[in-house]
Amino acid sequence: MDFIKLNNGIEIPRIGLGVFQTPNGTQTENAVLWALENGYRHIDTAMIYGNEASVGAAIAKSGVKRRDVFLTTKLWNDDIRRHRAKEAFEESLDRLGTDYVDLYLIHWPADGWQEAWEAMSELYEDRRVRAIGVSNFQIHHLEELAAISDVRPAVDQIESSPQFGNDEVIDYCGSHGIAVEAWSPLGGTGGSLLSDPVLAEIGAKYGKSAAQVVIRWHLQRGVIVLPKSTHEQRIRENIDVFDFELSAEDMAAVDALETGRRNGSDPDDFAF
Ligand code: A2P
Repeated sequence: MDFIKLNNGIEIPRIGLGVFQTPNGTQTENAVLWALENGYRHIDTAMIYGNEASVGAAIAKSGVKRRDVFLTTKLWNDDIRRHRAKEAFEESLDRLGTDYVDLYLIHWPADGWQEAWEAMSELYEDRRVRAIGVSNFQIHHLEELAAISDVRPAVDQIESSPQFGNDEVIDYCGSHGIAVEAWSPLGGTGGSLLSDPVLAEIGAKYGKSAAQVVIRWHLQRGVIVLPKSTHEQRIRENIDVFDFELSAEDMAAVDALETGRRNGSDPDDFAF
């Protein structure tokens, strides 16, 4: 497993298991257990996913030491608006069954995120969390954050896939020392990206699947990837991507799948 160093010096594995829409209970427990058995050391959850308890249970059950797992969770919008950042953080820790998280993110730039950032900065200074960051922040949010706080976000977790590369935010983060994590990296649930023949053709050259080509494309763009799956075979496949490299020509062919259309919500226009 390959790592990236965040701007505060801590290391984050470049592939993490995403568990958005994976129901609390057996499905999440199995997905996390399979991931840990197959070499993943990075799990990305959120309060709003409703599965923190199963993520924590699976880590405990796996036999992998807590300190060897990079665990991320996120502060939900209602808790931002109600100024409950610290309470929400403690509640997440309780559900996860741990006394720290590796990365705590503001999930969306909801009203009041500036105050939430201050509270999270205190959690960071108190060493309750190894790094703090944001999610779904546009360049203007990141600029406002830099203007109001001395604490830099370690990460911006954003939608990115070959269909919606989100390159401007990635370039901005790259020049400001902020690591980028991609959500919906495979084009999301119900999407048609993985059945695009271009990806199958490229994959055939390397003996890899469409999903592995897409994951490799993200890695070669310097992005941390959070593919999700509830199937053991796919979970295994999605981390088996460190033994090949896409040529510049193949990278460009994947770039050309850009449609300019998001799968998910626009961070400048969301209502949840
Ligand atoms: P499933 O959980 O049934 O495996 P994203 O990570 O972009 O949000 O989208 C993940 C979607 O792609 C999920 O619906 C997941 O479904 C599916 N998926 C994940 N890994 C693979 C894979 N290696 N091959 C095909 N589909 C995959």
